[in-house]
Amino acid sequence: MKLQHQLNIAFTTLLIVILGVASFVIYSMILDLLIEDERRQLEQSGEILVNVMTDRYGSLNIQQFNEVLQQQDLQLFLYDRNADAVLFSTMPSEAAEGIFSANDFADNEEALWEYNGHNFVTSRILFYPEALGLELILLTPMSDISAVQQNFIFLIAVVFLIGAGVAVLLSYFMTDKLVTPLTQLKRQLKKIEKRQFSDMERIRATGEIKEVEQSVYEMAQELKRYMDSQQGFFQNASHELKTPLMTIQGYAEGIRDGIFDEKDTEKGLEVMVAEVNRLKKIINEMILLAKLDSEPGVYEPEQLEVSALIDQVMERALPFVMESEMTLDRNVQDELLVKADPEKLLRALLNLVFNGLRHAHSKVHVRAFRENRGTVITVEDDGEGVAEELIPTIFHRFVKGESGETGLGLAIARAIVEQSGGKISVGASELGGAKFVIVFPGG
Ligand SMILES: Nc1ncnc2c1ncn2[C@@H]1O[C@H](COP(=O)(O)OP(=O)(O)O)[C@@H](O)[C@H]1O
Ligand SMILES: [Mg+2]
Repeated sequence: MKLQHQLNIAFTTLLIVILGVASFVIYSMILDLLIEDERRQLEQSGEILVNVMTDRYGSLNIQQFNEVLQQQDLQLFLYDRNADAVLFSTMPSEAAEGIFSANDFADNEEALWEYNGHNFVTSRILFYPEALGLELILLTPMSDISAVQQNFIFLIAVVFLIGAGVAVLLSYFMTDKLVTPLTQLKRQLKKIEKRQFSDMERIRATGEIKEVEQSVYEMAQELKRYMDSQQGFFQNASHELKTPLMTIQGYAEGIRDGIFDEKDTEKGLEVMVAEVNRLKKIINEMILLAKLDSEPGVYEPEQLEVSALIDQVMERALPFVMESEMTLDRNVQDELLVKADPEKLLRALLNLVFNGLRHAHSKVHVRAFRENRGTVITVEDDGEGVAEELIPTIFHRFVKGESGETGLGLAIARAIVEQSGGKISVGASELGGAKFVIVFPGG
């Protein structure tokens, strides 16, 4: 069911319950209030009557009383308490006798009298002096009061109905205001689902809905960025894979068709082996990168001693150093610790060191030390340095210089360093070449 209907149903139900309870309370209280009020009015009329009569006639004269009472438009009895007898009544004599026989006039406490299926509200006033036992009893039939009650209830019902109508209309208006942005948001989400990022529109809303809208918008931007980068990655990857494959295909077909002489065939096979190795390297690095990016579980961080790690780097690089006649220096402070996955961080450092060895003229320098900003590891060389135009994107995938190999080494290094909570950057070395700086902040 639509949210708006749900809200309206909930609201209407609440309204009905509240109005129902209120009506019931009013209904059950109104009769008592009306009876109370009627009795007070009777009492006032009675007291006025009694005062007037005693004032006017001084001593009591039943005959004169009767004449006065006769003229009143009231239902009343003049009752002699001592004799337990009705002296006079304005009611028809049959009803008067009926009432007298059906009720106990001597009982002061009885508030409601009954006769012939009708109830009467009573009010009684004693004449002065009390010893006379003369009492004026005024009556109002309950049916009169019930009529007033019915009228009152009818009025209340009308007011409630109009009120409820207005409230339901208001509720529709307000829920509409609330739900419209949600409906619009749903439409925007549909666009995300269909990847129509450029068609997305901002929604005007307030409060939490605005916050959700903001998050959805940011999520869409992020998703778009991610998809663009993924697409770029696949384009680059297929390009990188295609180039060696085409070289291999060219040589393979040439050899099959007997175009090459023996010397060229020999060279062709060598190129093919080299290209196959390059392909293998690209694919391995792509798989590693994909793992580093998408499987946080591949990291097993632990406390590492930096000097031991750099010893391992030196060992692994040694064969290459011997071969190329470079010098690889280390300058590492003792007792430096970082928290990282040892194998992965070794891999990142090796990528930097091998890059350095490839680009250096004569030496590569690895240093590690503590600074205010944290633990710093640098790898620098005395080569040409990084080309100016490469610097902003050098850590991106497949970005490489003229003599580059796969363009993935630095992307891998960055993924590893960032996963370990560090930062990597590139700059110029005092040795003349490139300087890569890794910083692990904190202790
Ligand atoms: N020490 C360095 N000196 C100069 N240029 C470098 C150095 N390290 C990396 N580069 C440049 O950065 C590019 C990207 O490096 P990398 O991601 O390791 O890819 P690859 O080594 O496979 O080419 C290299 O192709 C090279 O142009
Ligand atoms: Mg490299």
